[in-house]
Formats: sequence, structure tokens, C-alpha cells
Amino acid sequence: MQIQILTVVPELLDSVFSHSIMKRAVQKGLLSVTVHNLRQYTTLPRQQVDDYAFGGGAGMVMMIEPLVNAIEALKAKTDFDEVIYMTPDGDLFNQQTANQLSLQQNLLIICGHYKGIDERVREHFITREISIGDYVLSGGELAAAVVTDAIGRLIPGVLSDETSALFDSFQDNLLAPPVYTRPEEFRGWKVPEILMSGDHRKIEDWRMEQSLQRTRERRPGLLSE
Ligand code: 6GU
Repeated sequence: MQIQILTVVPELLDSVFSHSIMKRAVQKGLLSVTVHNLRQYTTLPRQQVDDYAFGGGAGMVMMIEPLVNAIEALKAKTDFDEVIYMTPDGDLFNQQTANQLSLQQNLLIICGHYKGIDERVREHFITREISIGDYVLSGGELAAAVVTDAIGRLIPGVLSDETSALFDSFQDNLLAPPVYTRPEEFRGWKVPEILMSGDHRKIEDWRMEQSLQRTRERRPGLLSE
């Protein structure tokens, strides 16, 4: 899968995909992430990419011209399955959307800044709008990193069997069960005995019960979705 990200602050994304699972996905050739600097696509003096909002009010708006130059230049080279705009008024991102997007080949993610992008770009080029939660970030870059990470780890072959996404929180609308590792006892705090029993059937039952209990306590809404 190829994910291309368009931003005015490429530096923000410099090292995000160079570690851990994302790094391995890139090294295995399963994922490529390319970050494009919007300023390279403006033809205006001083590499201008934003301007005052028509109608007045505080805050700048990202101009249509550099955005369309960039999007069209990138689309000429790649047939994108989705052109995604990261915005707090987009559809709330969740595991189901991550699953869907992980099946695509080519994604273009546009990061907004300031007061957002000229609405005409949204009308004519954007195929999907995503928010990562009900709070406002100063730009779409961190949100794009979140979405790229969530998608990237779902690409077949990225996770090994041991780290399989099948058992992630949210994959069945259930939160994940608690986990433990050595030592078996620390300051008198013991690991649940069942996990040491070697009885895999019982351990699976215990984990399912813990998942259900955790979900009922913390996120009851998930169980009725
Ligand atoms: Cl995608 N962008 C910004 N700027 N803020 C957000 C967001 C996105 N999702 C939640 N807050």
C-alpha cells in the first residue's frame, strides 16, 4: 500500500513512520509513506499557501490554487482509491474505517491547517473526510499519522501471528483483556493463576470473560453497536 500525505509542515511527520511496526512494514515493502510539501506547489510569491477568509473573521484559510496544483500533480502519477481530508468536522475514525482503508492500494491524505481548506477543494477533490476525535488539533498532521499507523499495521503481513490484529481492542467491538509478563510475582502482586495453568481452552475463556467485563464497565456502548 502507498500512502501519500500532503502538508505544509512535512517536518512533523519526518520520523513518525521510522520506528517499530511502521518501520518494519516499510522495510518489508508492504507500506510506503511519502510526505509532500504543499509549498512546492504554489506559484504565488513567498510560497504563499493561505489567505484571509472571505467574509472576515479570525484565522487564515488554505488557498484553493496550491492545493489543486498539488492534488492534480499527484493524481497524474497515481490512481488514488481515496483522497482523504483530515478535519475535526469529518467522520469519526474507528477500527472499522481502519479495516476498510487497509484494503486499499493508494491513499492521498490532505492535512489542513489554520481555519481549514477552501471549501471548493472539499467539494471537488475529497472523497472522504476523517476526524480522529472530538477535540481540535492545530493541524491534520498528527491525525494523519494516527490514521496511517492504524491502517498500516492492518496490511496483511505487517503483523506477525503473535501480534495479530484479530485480538486487538475494538476488532469485535470488545476491549482487549489484561496482559502480564514475567516475573510471576512482583512485590507480592501475582499474575492470575489461570494464565500459568497451561490450559489453553480455559485461558481463552478467561480472556473472553475479561474482555466482556472490561467492555461492560468502560465502554458499554460498544456492546450495543
Ligand atoms: Cl483530522 N484535524 C484537526 N485539525 N483536528 C482534529 C482532527 C483532525 N481530528 C480531531 N481533531
